[in-house]
Amino acid sequence: MSHEPEPIVIDVDTGIDDALALLYACAAPAAEILGVSTVVGNVDLNAATRNTRAVLALAGRGDIPVWPGAASPLSSASADARHVHGESGLGHAVLPEPPEPASRTHAVDAIVAAAHAHAGRLILVATGPLTNVALAVMREPELPSLVKRFVIMGGAYAESGNVTPSAEFNIWHDPEAARIVFRAFGGVGGASMVAVGLDVTRKMTFDEKDVAAFAASAAGKPKGAALTRFIEDASRFYFERMEASQGRRHLVMHDPLAVAVALDPTLVETRRAAVDVETSGRLTTGATIADWRGQWGRLANTEVAVSVDAERARKMFFEAMLRLAEGRSR
Ligand code: BDR
Ligand code: CA
Repeated sequence: MSHEPEPIVIDVDTGIDDALALLYACAAPAAEILGVSTVVGNVDLNAATRNTRAVLALAGRGDIPVWPGAASPLSSASADARHVHGESGLGHAVLPEPPEPASRTHAVDAIVAAAHAHAGRLILVATGPLTNVALAVMREPELPSLVKRFVIMGGAYAESGNVTPSAEFNIWHDPEAARIVFRAFGGVGGASMVAVGLDVTRKMTFDEKDVAAFAASAAGKPKGAALTRFIEDASRFYFERMEASQGRRHLVMHDPLAVAVALDPTLVETRRAAVDVETSGRLTTGATIADWRGQWGRLANTEVAVSVDAERARKMFFEAMLRLAEGRSR
């Protein structure tokens, strides 16, 4: 891992776990956040953009540009995930109206410009549907050779899905976009994608005891009260939804893990494979299919995360939250 902060662009559909991922990135010394692009997914584009700006302001990083992107998936009509993230997208949390306006630059222009400006160095992370990234690779086919690393939270490889038995939400929400993106990466001279899917994210959870321990450690710190309140209120909604659907009050840290892996790939072990996306299945639309045995005869395009040091990742997350509580955004 380099000690110089690395330039990073994060593409989000802010949601509860996207919000936690953004807070993590703001506190990570390894990250120089160039900007955050937003996409429809958990909530509509306006809500995702507003939530992103509000969360960055909470972290003391309202200066980071927020670039609105795609307001609808490429072709399929998709449902949002407000049943998991709440009407606003941030559960029971209520954040003040952010002072900084969204940027007037479109997400796709911003991603392509950042890739050129930081050619060979840019880390791109997507924690929402892949619509913006698909549009970016259609605009700039060289994108895979311009980025140093591209990490997604997306897919279910040996695990079952979370929207359907075979599909994970971010891929299912815009399977055509996901297919374009998987097919674009991993070619000769191009970066592979690193896929942080449900296989590993389901292993990284926190519960009310973790939140209480964080609250105790953050008490009395300059930003401790505001941050604790946000984490408590956002996660309580998620706990309620998980209890109703699965009988267990916990939060799965899908998106924070993807950002953590983008900054420290040693958190996961990966296995290379050609991966493609089912776009027209009767039962399986949005499924990510990994060709583990090379039966397609295609080049591998993806480093699929197959195991994770969840303890280390969770510890890093709460240490980062404590730095934010102390008023240190990186
Ligand atoms: C993914 O779906 C969204 O609801 C979460 O924010 C996460 O990115 C998990 O399947
Ligand atoms: Ca997300």
